[in-house]
Amino acid sequence: MIPFNLIVALDSHKGIGKNGQLPWHLPADLKHFKDLTCQVQDPAKKNFVIMGRKTWGSIPEKFRPLPKRINCVLTRNKSLLFPAGVVRAENFAEALKLTQDSKLKNHIESIFVIGGAEVFKMAIQSPDCQKLYLTHLLPAFDCDVFFPPFLQDFQLTVKSPPHTENKVSYYFAEYVRRSA
Ligand SMILES: NC(=O)c1ccc[n+]([C@@H]2O[C@H](COP(=O)([O-])OP(=O)(O)OC[C@H]3O[C@@H](n4cnc5c(N)ncnc54)[C@H](OP(=O)(O)O)[C@@H]3O)[C@@H](O)[C@H]2O)c1
Repeated sequence: MIPFNLIVALDSHKGIGKNGQLPWHLPADLKHFKDLTCQVQDPAKKNFVIMGRKTWGSIPEKFRPLPKRINCVLTRNKSLLFPAGVVRAENFAEALKLTQDSKLKNHIESIFVIGGAEVFKMAIQSPDCQKLYLTHLLPAFDCDVFFPPFLQDFQLTVKSPPHTENKVSYYFAEYVRRSA
């Protein structure tokens, strides 16, 4: 078992993106994402973030790879090149397996799946997906990619008070996988 977490911001219809981008601009939520995915108990370690090739492509070049994290990009395209230090994987199982590699294992603290829709859909089905960090946006946005249903398999454990930013109200929530 290789336990991992998943982090996503979703609107009231579970929308998560539009035209390859986020449909909203919420700097405090981006900070929340950065804080959670960078946070380590052991300063000698980093977290391993797994993303799809389209999510990688949605990050402006100057901001990628995401700093202070080991970036892993999923792609079936063998000819795509990534900057030094970025880990590529041809499927999700390979991405998880790479975290156990002798060169990486002792340098990784936690694993986060960070999107997008195609990767979330697959990751959430894995029993190793133990915890969800969700930012629930109260409005509905115009989206073309969606987060899969999750309430049957996960239960709410933490819910923050509401925040409002750029006229958008949202709250942070944590869910854990229901025991079988
Ligand atoms: N709201 C949020 O928190 C959040 C977070 C992240 C992303 N997003 C949004 O989500 C959207 C992107 O999501 P998306 O579903 O279109 O794309 P995606 O999941 O980011 O990337 C899809 C690509 O990843 C690769 N891939 C996916 N599964 C794979 C597998 N099992 N094995 C190998 N490669 C695999 C493939 O790349 P190749 O085609 O190269 O083979 C595939 O085309 C954007 O709008 C983005 O802004 C939102």
